[in-house]
Amino acid sequence: MAVGSVLVTGGTGYIGSFTTLALLEAGYKVVIVDNLYNSSQECVNRIELICGKRPQLYDVDITDEAALDKVFDEHPDIDNVIHFAALKAVGESGEIPLEYYRVNVYGSLCLLQSMAKHNVTNIVFSSSATVYGDATRFPDMIPIPEHCPMEATNVYGRTKITVEGMIQDHVRAMRNKAQKEGKSGEEFNGALLRYFNPAGAHPSGIMGEDPQGVPYNLLPLLAQVAVGKREKLFVFGDDYDSKDGTAIRDYIHILDLANGHLVALNYLRDNHPGVKAWNLGTGKGSTVFDMITAFSKAVGRDLPYEVKPRRDGDVLNLTANPTLANKELGWKTQLTLEQACEDLWRWTENNPQGYRQEPPKEFVEK
Ligand code: NAD
Ligand code: WQD
Repeated sequence: MAVGSVLVTGGTGYIGSFTTLALLEAGYKVVIVDNLYNSSQECVNRIELICGKRPQLYDVDITDEAALDKVFDEHPDIDNVIHFAALKAVGESGEIPLEYYRVNVYGSLCLLQSMAKHNVTNIVFSSSATVYGDATRFPDMIPIPEHCPMEATNVYGRTKITVEGMIQDHVRAMRNKAQKEGKSGEEFNGALLRYFNPAGAHPSGIMGEDPQGVPYNLLPLLAQVAVGKREKLFVFGDDYDSKDGTAIRDYIHILDLANGHLVALNYLRDNHPGVKAWNLGTGKGSTVFDMITAFSKAVGRDLPYEVKPRRDGDVLNLTANPTLANKELGWKTQLTLEQACEDLWRWTENNPQGYRQEPPKEFVEK
């Protein structure tokens, strides 16, 4: 029997698909809404191949409130929402800011309104380490705790800060309203999960990140170099104040990150905290050169790179202090950077065209 029903927006995307898998494996029923803007339906087949269960997918845009209403109407058992659907390219967000505000902010508003109409009171929201901006401006804020002041350096990050605030205001108002009516209002809760840098793929080699356009992030680009789609990696800056001059990030295995959503959901249900933010990261920083070395080792050969000037808007160090999530959620990363690189390589080697090709035969014949 299902332990609960969760609506997952953006559930066919990279992090959403892995969270859907983790939810199904834990016994939840999952309904996905995704307009497939940056994803493929094929990932639903892969989820089913891995766990034997299939989420129900609605091709719905989150800015279409009436369509969201219809999904909730058809699934009155949905009691939680995990909200991933968003546009996420930092550079693009500066070029088409209004589109980012429309999808990320207005889309979240439509979702919250539709949830309110259907008495769905818990939301887990995909926030980002990017909300901290350049945390190195505060000497005692590395690794970054949740109370680090937020000051995004890009439009994308500002949409995340805006939605965090909107969820806080909404939950506070719903609780106040309930209390005025003599009720506790404790059923209204939100988790703001600030992810650091997701990495890796499923160890089976049949599920992974499949960005639709030109990738922007380090690991998908390195993977393209490894399969020969790209001649070399451009390293953006080797003049940072780090051990080798390249910038430091906190790379977290996608399975650990997905699991963080389950524990956050359980925490909301069991503890009714109102709205709380948690960092999801390992607490360990790695430089760009560390990553090239780790991924080259997984591939079994050196990967070519060339040092270029720093990328606009990049910061020296985004490493999480994950103590709060460790203590409150009882969540800690289990998997290593080496495993993330090996899993990413297995996925890339098996699926050079991502989800635009059949899964490897041994899976279909099983
Ligand atoms: P993704 O692009 O793979 O997934 C997002 C999904 O949302 C896609 O499947 C896309 O088709 C869908 N979507 C986009 N616009 C939509 C709309 N209007 N209606 C319905 N669906 C829509 O991205 P991801 O890496 O899985 O990121 C998931 C969430 O996590 C996003 O909110 C992102 O901002 C956040 N995040 C990502 C990272 C990262 O590095 N990947 C880091 C921190 C936070
Ligand atoms: C990692 C490091 C680059 C590409 C971004 C968003 C953040 C979050 C995760 C959503 C940096 C360097 C990269 C390349 C390189 N997303 N790099 N050559 O910038 O930490 O974070 O994605 O919320 O909000 O800002 O990730 O993977 O792009 O870069 O040298 O071709 O790799 O300079 O130091 P980033 P990234």
